[in-house]
Amino acid sequence: MLAVYIHIPFCERKCNYCAFSSFACIDKEKDRYISSLLNEIENFDFKNFEFNSNLLCVNRTKTTSYEVDTIYIGGGTPSLLTIEDLTKILNKIKEKFKISSNCEISIECNPNSLTYEKACGYKNLGINRLSLGIQSLDDEELKFIGRLHNSSQALDAIDMVKKAGIKNISCDMIIGLQNQTPETFKNQLETLIKKDIKHISTYMLQIEDGTPLAKFASHNADFLPSEDENAFVYKQASAFLEEHGFKRYEVSNFAKLGYESRHNFKYWTGENYIGFGLSAHSYIDGIRYANANNFADYYSRKLALKETLSKQELIEEHLMLGLRCARGVDLEYLQKLGKNIENNENFKYFLEKNVIFKVKNKFFLNPDYYEVNNYVIVKLMS
Ligand SMILES: C[S@@+](CC[C@H](N)C(=O)[O-])C[C@H]1O[C@@H](n2cnc3c(N)ncnc32)[C@H](O)[C@@H]1O
Ligand code: SF4
Repeated sequence: MLAVYIHIPFCERKCNYCAFSSFACIDKEKDRYISSLLNEIENFDFKNFEFNSNLLCVNRTKTTSYEVDTIYIGGGTPSLLTIEDLTKILNKIKEKFKISSNCEISIECNPNSLTYEKACGYKNLGINRLSLGIQSLDDEELKFIGRLHNSSQALDAIDMVKKAGIKNISCDMIIGLQNQTPETFKNQLETLIKKDIKHISTYMLQIEDGTPLAKFASHNADFLPSEDENAFVYKQASAFLEEHGFKRYEVSNFAKLGYESRHNFKYWTGENYIGFGLSAHSYIDGIRYANANNFADYYSRKLALKETLSKQELIEEHLMLGLRCARGVDLEYLQKLGKNIENNENFKYFLEKNVIFKVKNKFFLNPDYYEVNNYVIVKLMS
């Protein structure tokens, strides 16, 4: 089964913190972009992709099944597109690939560009999961990070989506904003829970180089909460969400039972995925590809990256993904790739201190240590 990602690189305006590949140029670029994207999908051919022979160790062979069971339209801001544009894109995917009858089709939306008519259009197109970039329900915080919506627009957007008949709604929230305390954040989560939101992502604010936020933070060191304060908010929020029936299935992702993102789960479990569009990444049979990150190079199909993972990189990837999510790390898989991690001194130490725990042939990160997952991963790789 395959995952397909489609990147829509347009935003109405860049948010102050965001370094994702998106640009405020929809009027100038949209028509050419959509036609190039349709052309990229149409010309996709598995025959053009190689097989990483390092995967033979783990009994993997070249992919022959082309059925797609998850599609993710992300950005940027896909809700800036018209229903006609989205129809063309999804029809092209359906022409090209066999689509499972229970395919998860997600779209990322910003509250300010979503309308009830668009939400109904998504429903008619078979889009069955909608991810809303709420970020915060504090108007001062929203303004500070440069969002174009306020909290009441965010809540209205949720109501619109529900009224249009899409039940599987996810909300993105950011930890690390200026007014935040464990209490204020929990109150915001509670508001979302009362709206029967099924999935919540809580991202730790990253200060990305080159963004207006990075510039601001370099002159106002104490304006934002410290790492320790953020870790405390995260811990309290995790406990709160779990008390309310959400399961943490990845460091930043919480879902009611049966509402885990099947698409994102494929990224975290090392399955094949194909990305279409500017800067989109693909991972096919142990080889990573990335499309160019600027329009001119994307239109001429220049790749920004093609990387065949070595055995060491496959090991690192499996370890990193397995520890970040509830799937755990398969000891046998690591062994087949030549890594006997049970001999590693740090592994023994973490096991003894209950930082990791073993169940049959797998090991898992103790959820109490999720916020230091990067440290554990680095130690286990050494
Ligand atoms: C690629 S964005 C697309 C969603 C949509 N455009 C929106 O912003 O509403 C996905 C999510 O990444 C998160 N994000 C982007 N930049 C971030 C940063 N620097 N730190 C933390 N989270 C970030 C935001 O929560 C955002 O909703
Ligand atoms: S709307 Fe989303 S993708 Fe666009 S700049 Fe803001 S966070 Fe980034």
